[in-house]
Amino acid sequence: MKFYKAPFITFEGGEGSGKTTQIGILYDRLLQNGIDIVQYREPGGTKGAEEIRELLMEGEWERWNSTTEALLMSAARADLIQKKIIPQLEGNTWVLCDRFVDSTLAYQGYGHELGAKCIKELNHFTVGNLEPDLTFILQINAEIGLQRAGLRKAGINRFERSDVHFHQRVQKGYEEILKENPKRCFGINALLDIDVISQIIFDEVVKRFNLKF
Ligand SMILES: Nc1ncnc2c1ncn2[C@@H]1O[C@H](COP(=O)(O)OP(=O)(O)OP(=O)(O)O)[C@@H](O)[C@H]1O
Ligand SMILES: [Mg+2]
Repeated sequence: MKFYKAPFITFEGGEGSGKTTQIGILYDRLLQNGIDIVQYREPGGTKGAEEIRELLMEGEWERWNSTTEALLMSAARADLIQKKIIPQLEGNTWVLCDRFVDSTLAYQGYGHELGAKCIKELNHFTVGNLEPDLTFILQINAEIGLQRAGLRKAGINRFERSDVHFHQRVQKGYEEILKENPKRCFGINALLDIDVISQIIFDEVVKRFNLKF
């Protein structure tokens, strides 16, 4: 494992679990405390990866088969890692990412049932020895998450057009990921109030990275 001084923190969870809400709150709070920090979203974060994002997020659910989807996600990720994440970490800037490899494992591995083994291999091929230092997994029941995501102003994306069973398998995937990575992953009940969750996240970051403000 390559060691960077600046932390790399990822946010994971099903649709509508609150990742984008929470990453924004943490980003603002750390920035206000004088930390040099950037945030990205997956798929996306570079010009090419944002173009791949449009291919993935728009259109009908049947637009891509599971394998193509996994490869497109990974292609976008490889571009983001090479052009942004690694240079930022090397420059000692903190990196926050809204989704990362665990999403591919949960969505394509479990949701699409491509299998954990092959997606773990794909993830390893994509990221090499880069691993998040800390991953927050927002745990939510699939039905409530989809309801919440549907209320968002941006409208629904291609993944929200899939059936609820797909999202239930995704949740199961995240539960497995939490069990398999108890040190890296920190699970949070996404039904708690936004402010309660953001404080839990901030306290954990302060503790893990030994911050003194
Ligand atoms: N803890 C919470 N309690 C109630 N509502 C919440 C909570 N967190 C977020 N929301 C609301 O739920 C909706 C989805 O939140 P958000 O966009 O942050 O989720 P997300 O995990 O990024 O979703 P997606 O996977 O679709 O990107 C938003 O309208 C947001 O305001
Ligand atoms: Mg989001």
